[in-house]
Amino acid sequence: MLTMQDIKSHYRFNGDDSAALLELQPLAKAHQEELIDQFYDYLLGIPETAAFLGGEAALKQIRQKHADWFLNLFNGTYDNLYMRNLQLTGHAHVRIGLKAHYVNSAMHLVRRYLVNLIEEKYAHQPQIERQRLHEAVEKILDINLDVMTAAYQEESLKKVFLSKRFEAKLIHATERFTFGLNLILILALVGLSLSVVGLFVWEITHVFSGAVEKGIMSALGTLLILWMMIELLDNEIKTLRGGHFNILVFIGVVIVAIIREILISTLRHDPLTTQAFLAGTLLILGMVYFLVAKSQQAIAPRPPHG
Ligand code: HEM
Repeated sequence: MLTMQDIKSHYRFNGDDSAALLELQPLAKAHQEELIDQFYDYLLGIPETAAFLGGEAALKQIRQKHADWFLNLFNGTYDNLYMRNLQLTGHAHVRIGLKAHYVNSAMHLVRRYLVNLIEEKYAHQPQIERQRLHEAVEKILDINLDVMTAAYQEESLKKVFLSKRFEAKLIHATERFTFGLNLILILALVGLSLSVVGLFVWEITHVFSGAVEKGIMSALGTLLILWMMIELLDNEIKTLRGGHFNILVFIGVVIVAIIREILISTLRHDPLTTQAFLAGTLLILGMVYFLVAKSQQAIAPRPPHG
């Protein structure tokens, strides 16, 4: 945290500058009204700044604050209390939503006014004398601007910092949540795969209990399902490890389920319409599978040559 002493030393502001500003105090007092008139003509002439100056009573109050600030430039004492007041002013401007741009341009107006005033009133003095006064004025105005506009940087840093922290927390929480869901999915898949193994064993028993054809066909269908469960588990583990989500696996699962249904349907001697419906569905799913596989090949980067 910079102190007023630090800031003054960075601007090479010394006792001579304080003395020069104090010397200018009577002149500033005599021209305070004129400068503030120009300051307000300027602010009221820009719709964006005029909007902050409200009604008659508010305008009078704010005008007094600006007039006091101007005269305070020449009081010769620039300590931490002076800096604190500038910081509060900066925060007051930020609070009302005034853009830093207007503070900078208003400061430019004050600077031009004072430089011209010194040029005019000290015209008979040597150049070096005018320069001494100019430099003191330039330094104190730059210091004022520096401290006041720091409030804008603090505000934007605060916003960035807060939103960054919030975003990071949100992303972290969502990642953990998704990871948890994926683990549940894997456990469910493992459980289902075990049930499919159980189903397979149960269907094999049909073979030994005489229903050979039914047992073999059903077991074949169940094996297909088991095969797809393995694919699903594999896909899920790859996704958890950061791999791509593969939609083809899901289409494959549905195809296998339909094939199994067709096998069972023939065993059950279902009506022809049911079997035709299943065959039609299988055909459509096959086409979808083919198209998705093709488009994935087109998107995937080609392996490097050589
Ligand atoms: C050279 C640039 C400027 C300086 C040095 C300056 C200085 C000040 C000071 C010393 C205060 C009193 C702060 C407090 O109550 O603690 C103030 C308040 C205020 N200034 Fe400025 N000002 C500048 C530019 C502007 C501009 C461009 C506007 C635009 C309209 C503006 C509008 C206001 C308003 C509306 C307040 C009252 C804020 C409140 O509600 O507390 N100022 N300014």
